[in-house]
Amino acid sequence: MSARLSAKNAAVTLPVGGGKGGIGKSALVANLGLALARLERRVLAVDADLGGSDLHAVLGLANDRPGLGELLTAKGHAVADFVRPALEPRFFFLPGDAMIVATANPSFQKKRKILHAIKAWPADFTLLDLGAGASITVMDFFLTSPLSLVVMLPEQPAVMNAFNFLKNAVFRALDRIFRDNAGARAALRDFQTRGRGPGAMKIDELVAAIEKAVPGQGERARRAVGRWRPKLVLNRARRVDDFAFARQLTRWAAEDLGLAIEVLGFLPEDEAVRQAAGQGLPALDLDPRAPFCRAVALLAQRIGQWAGRADEWRAHGAFDDSFQRAATDFAGLFPPPGRVERRP
Ligand SMILES: Nc1ncnc2c1ncn2[C@@H]1O[C@H](COP(=O)(O)OP(=O)(O)OP(=O)(O)O)[C@@H](O)[C@H]1O
Ligand SMILES: [Mg+2]
Repeated sequence: MSARLSAKNAAVTLPVGGGKGGIGKSALVANLGLALARLERRVLAVDADLGGSDLHAVLGLANDRPGLGELLTAKGHAVADFVRPALEPRFFFLPGDAMIVATANPSFQKKRKILHAIKAWPADFTLLDLGAGASITVMDFFLTSPLSLVVMLPEQPAVMNAFNFLKNAVFRALDRIFRDNAGARAALRDFQTRGRGPGAMKIDELVAAIEKAVPGQGERARRAVGRWRPKLVLNRARRVDDFAFARQLTRWAAEDLGLAIEVLGFLPEDEAVRQAAGQGLPALDLDPRAPFCRAVALLAQRIGQWAGRADEWRAHGAFDDSFQRAATDFAGLFPPPGRVERRP
């Protein structure tokens, strides 16, 4: 592929994270990936949950192929050696590290090289299913694209978790830039250790502290954070009132971190997801009419429009109304507000 062609056809890379385990990252990657493939987009789903790879199981595939673990630990392999077509025309899967006992904590250089190769693989959308936690490796995978996606549950502690995850990502992104500057790093440590609420260090204060430590670099820090455009999907929502948790995160992230988060959509709590897991099938194949699957299909439509337009999506600045637009689009998939659920 020529450089011009590959730049034009660059995949939209969406790392899917969120800090906590068990919030539906893998369920989202599997089903959103299949839904995008059914909209005739070419999709690469990567199991990037090192040490906890299970995307194959969510997709209903056997755990019998090497993948990312080998790419990170052995020499002489290319991404294309391990990518396999699966389930759907246009859907491709890169397994994780379930075949090898332990993946050493890979160096930044190694991770960067492999991530570069993954992003260069010809797809419209490349989805990275990340592990739980906020380890450096999770963060580096999460930050590999300006369009990363956070999954969150509709609970108060989950909002704090998602916020802390984003804050960790901001910290890691800036820590990488100011690696060699003790003054800037001290400011960053201060930013990270002071939590949210009274006494918190907000982005303006951090930028000022970095500027003081390294004159001329404050704005560079602000721009580096501003270039990053995280997305949000709220999973396991039971009613429209739950949507408010998403708005709360966008407010906190804007106020404290200077991040403009785009709310992409809301996925309902749905027994079909668990049933599908029990039967070794993606939910989309068990029952495409299940509420979760209909919401995933809607999400795929909203995301699918950005195929081939990663730069445009990133530059698309104003997401102030994204919460309202998503709430309007998804409301019909949930019971009307205030309705009391009754058992038959
Ligand atoms: N919308 C939903 N409705 C009902 N159950 C769900 C929903 N989303 C996910 N689940 C269930 O929650 C559990 C965790 O989901 P999943 O494995 O996708 O989470 P994860 O974030 O990838 O977890 P980990 O960090 O451990 O990899 C699974 O049993 C899954 O079936
Ligand atoms: Mg998972």
